[in-house]
Formats: sequence, C-alpha cells, structure tokens
Amino acid sequence: MTKHKSVLLKETIRNLSIIGTGAYVDLTLGGGGHSLAILNELQKGATLVVFDLDMRAIENFVDLINVVGTDNIKNEVKESKQATAEKNGVNIIIVNRNFNELEDVLSSAKIDKVDGIIADLGWSSDQLGGIEGLSYMNLNEELDMRFNKSDGLKAKDLLNAFGKNELKKMFERYADLRGNQNEIIVNEIIKRREKNSFEKVGELTAIVEENSINLHVRNVNQMHSRVFQSLRIAVNNEIENLRLMLESSLRTMNENAKLEIITFHSTEEKVVKNFVEENKLNLTGGDNGYISPLVEELLINKRARSAKLWVINK
Ligand SMILES: C[S@@+](CC[C@H](N)C(=O)[O-])C[C@H]1O[C@@H](n2cnc3c(N)ncnc32)[C@H](O)[C@@H]1O
Repeated sequence: MTKHKSVLLKETIRNLSIIGTGAYVDLTLGGGGHSLAILNELQKGATLVVFDLDMRAIENFVDLINVVGTDNIKNEVKESKQATAEKNGVNIIIVNRNFNELEDVLSSAKIDKVDGIIADLGWSSDQLGGIEGLSYMNLNEELDMRFNKSDGLKAKDLLNAFGKNELKKMFERYADLRGNQNEIIVNEIIKRREKNSFEKVGELTAIVEENSINLHVRNVNQMHSRVFQSLRIAVNNEIENLRLMLESSLRTMNENAKLEIITFHSTEEKVVKNFVEENKLNLTGGDNGYISPLVEELLINKRARSAKLWVINK
C-alpha cells in the first residue's frame, strides 16, 4: 500500500478538462492517486497510459485497479516492460520505462495523438526508504541514489569527482543553495574527501551537522533534504529527462490537449517556463502562470509546500 499523498489532485483533474472517451497519459504513476482520479472520469473506449520507472509503483497500481489476472499483468510488465489491462471498458497501458520514451510507447500502441498528459515530478514518499542512499536517515547506506542500478554514476562518485565549481553549480541549480551556505558545504566536502573518499550517507549528513552553526540553519533536516535533493537530481539526470519529456509530449498532443506539470523547485520551473516561451504555448492556470496548493492541503501534506501546477495549452 502507498503512503504517498497526491499533490494538487483536485486542481490537476479539474484543469485537465477530461473528455470521457479520450486518450490520457500519466507519466509519473507513483502511488497512483492521479491515475485513479483520471480513470474515474473515463468511459468505455477511452485509453489511459501510465508510466513509472519503479516496478513497485506499477505493482501497486495493478493491485489498485483490481482487475482479473493481476499476477499475469505484473509478470508481463516485468518481462516486456509493458502490459495492457481493461477496466470498465477503458484500455489501460502500463509501462515500466523512462517517460522520455513516450513517443515510442504511443507509436507501438498505435496511438497517434492524446488529449491530456500529466507529470508530477520527482519521487514519491514510498521511494525514500527504498532506494539506497536516497534518504538522509539511513546513515549506513552507500551514497548511491541511482534509480536505475544498471547504469550511470552513483552519488558518491559525483561527490568524489566533481570540481569545486561543478559542486557549487549542482547545489545552486538543484537546491537553490547560494552564497555562504553553498561555499561552506562545498569547501567541507572537498576538505573531507582529501582525507577519505565519500562512501556512506552518514558522511555527507555529518558535514551539515558539524557545520550547522556556520551554516545558520534553523532546521538541519531541511538542509539535509536540499543537499540530498541536488545529488538525486544530478545522479538521475532529471533535468535533461524533463526537457526531453516536454518536447515529446508536445509532439503527441491534440490541438486542444492539456499538458500538466507539477514542479517542486526552481530549476524545474525554469525548464517549464523556457519550454512554454520557446514553443509559444499558453499557461492557463493561476495569476503567475501556475496553481499553488490551498492552505488546507499545505496543512496535511508537507510535500505540497513547494509544489506548483503548470497547465500548458497549445
Ligand atoms: C511524485 S511521484 C508521482 C505521484 C503520483 N502522481 C501520485 O498521485 O501518487 C513521481 C513518480 O515518477 C516516477 N518517475 C520519476 N522520474 C521518472 C522517469 N524519468 N520516467 C518514469 N517515471 C519516473 C517515480 O518513480 C515516482 O514514482
């Protein structure tokens, strides 16, 4: 069962203007909250395509939709990265691939254009403890953070190899860590690795804890979150994936389709805003171009604090 509380759920569904018989894509299935809400609005003949890199999110969703043959569906996704299911006449395509492969998946399913696409970026609450090195709480874990264990550098590799400027840019871009705080953390990382290279989560959290006075941090955990967030984004190539995903989403949208992106930090926001400007698209939600969660949601879901929903039209 999922612990993940969907962010901006009502706002996302309301602004998607769902056509009951249309084709919709949820690029980030996670705990399945957004997908289930879309599924609720769909009628016989409609299509829902769901993506997640994490097989556990897929298995959880297959259980949630509660259709005949759940084990067969799960096994098929494990073997072929994809399977189909049917619920109340809606065709559901379940995909265990990176969301930047959207066009490939749609063309092999013979879907030319879609009526709406949503992406709720980042990682779900369920994943924090499940991916090695992703949580700052698990001090003895290896600093890995790779979602896909078969390729790419680990978080410890970046920490041990990046030059001073690369480290500074990473913390600034992916966690808005600037000025003295950025300088202190980077200098301490470099000082530490001159003696011993980074291996474990606790070695990185110690840097924030031992320097908390100089860093002027009121909430040490918040600082851990920001440091770990920047490494996670760098390790998993999240910004490049976002760019690719936005471009391919645009190519698959019907004339009146909506593309909804939920962002959690300024670098993601910048990528979305540039994409909208470069392609002369329209943002239709809220006064600043995006929709923020209501106070009621902020009170019950910490993760919603930095969330922004961008509703993009052609
Ligand atoms: C914030 S969660 C989504 C939560 C979901 N909207 C809900 O209501 O529960 C983001 C999900 O996207 C997945 N994800 C992140 N990057 C991905 C990528 N490049 N391709 C496919 N899935 C990705 C993560 O595994 C995670 O499960």
